[in-house]
Amino acid sequence: MADFRTRSTVLVTCPKRTSQFLCKEIESLGFPILAEFPTGVEIEGTLEDTMLLNLHVRTGYHVHFLLKSFIAATPDGLYKNISEIPWEDYIEPDGYLSVVSTVDNPNITDSRFANVKCKDAIVDRMRHVTGRRPDSGSERIGVVVYLFWRGTSCRVFLDTSGEPLTKRGYRKIPYKAPMQESLAAAVILATGWRGDGNLANPMCGSGTLAIEAAMIGLNRAPGLMRENFAFIHLRGFDSEHWAALRKRAKSAATRKIDGRIVVSDIDEGAVMAARKNAANAGVDHLMDFHVCDFAATPVPDGGGIVMLNPEYGARLGTESALEETYHRIGDFFKKDCRGYTGYIFTGNPHLAKQVGLRTKRKIPFFNTTLDCRLLEYELYEGSRKHSISDEQ
Ligand SMILES: C[S@@+](CC[C@H](N)C(=O)[O-])C[C@H]1O[C@@H](n2cnc3c(N)ncnc32)[C@H](O)[C@@H]1O
Repeated sequence: MADFRTRSTVLVTCPKRTSQFLCKEIESLGFPILAEFPTGVEIEGTLEDTMLLNLHVRTGYHVHFLLKSFIAATPDGLYKNISEIPWEDYIEPDGYLSVVSTVDNPNITDSRFANVKCKDAIVDRMRHVTGRRPDSGSERIGVVVYLFWRGTSCRVFLDTSGEPLTKRGYRKIPYKAPMQESLAAAVILATGWRGDGNLANPMCGSGTLAIEAAMIGLNRAPGLMRENFAFIHLRGFDSEHWAALRKRAKSAATRKIDGRIVVSDIDEGAVMAARKNAANAGVDHLMDFHVCDFAATPVPDGGGIVMLNPEYGARLGTESALEETYHRIGDFFKKDCRGYTGYIFTGNPHLAKQVGLRTKRKIPFFNTTLDCRLLEYELYEGSRKHSISDEQ
């Protein structure tokens, strides 16, 4: 049976350019960072620690637990090394297994071949040792093994998450061009908003940014909504420890935040999706929903942040029609959002210029493969009106 207290390297992956936010999350959970990459962070920990990380990390994709590092130049070398791992300690003989990989090796042109070789090594060993073998397939519904093979350097991990952590479970209606939940959480963390003040989110789409913000404001662990994680299927999984972690996370969450979250979109279907998704996440009681043009969004008195993720040409709208929209966002910021910090998440620098206000910060992100920026605007109160300066 797997010892959930044995220490090893733990690799937590994340959307490109969000590792700084992931580092802060992981440090606040008590783990020193050993290495940081653009798409992940390495720490040391146990399988028990991976349960805590899967429950609490907002900006991560997968929590991988290292089983073995070795050198392999050929598929046969890979097979031999993988078959030496005591898989019978980790996988039930009648369990279910899937293998995923990242492969950059001149002998392998199709990574599926490496997956099959890895899977064969595991099930052949299990059959030899236990007389039975687990089922296997591509669905991440049981134990998941992650193979990283670059050149001759090989690392075999248990992917303790299975389905990526960005799939929280609340977004039953993704609607159009939704932002991934992990990225949306990183965007909110980048603003510094923690439920202290209002949040206006015109152009909400399916509501991902507002929902992630609400969960951050409530200190609600994102993993509480998920039923399935791959670690649950490992031999040695302690369901009582898992229940205790969940109970502690639930009692650390609050029911209220200091401000209101105002959510709007011009598309009635989007607002309906946002409302349902927010209800699934259990955060709709913090939100006011409006079907309206972004400029008609009732921005509450008292300040906070106003966050927009407009279309930026690459996927939905066309650029020329959007120039006018971005220009109007600048007017909306100047006229209706004084006392707030304004944010626009966009992948189009030309459109961003049409806002016509000076940015305080431009925080780089990627949205899947698109180079994006979170633009920050300080929208001072009337007494400091000269500070909302037009861009030169
Ligand atoms: C890129 S999507 C936002 C996606 C969102 N972040 C999510 O995760 O689902 C842009 C949204 O802006 C809305 N929109 C476009 N023009 C608008 C306008 N003039 N006023 C209000 N909303 C508008 C669209 O209906 C769409 O839902």
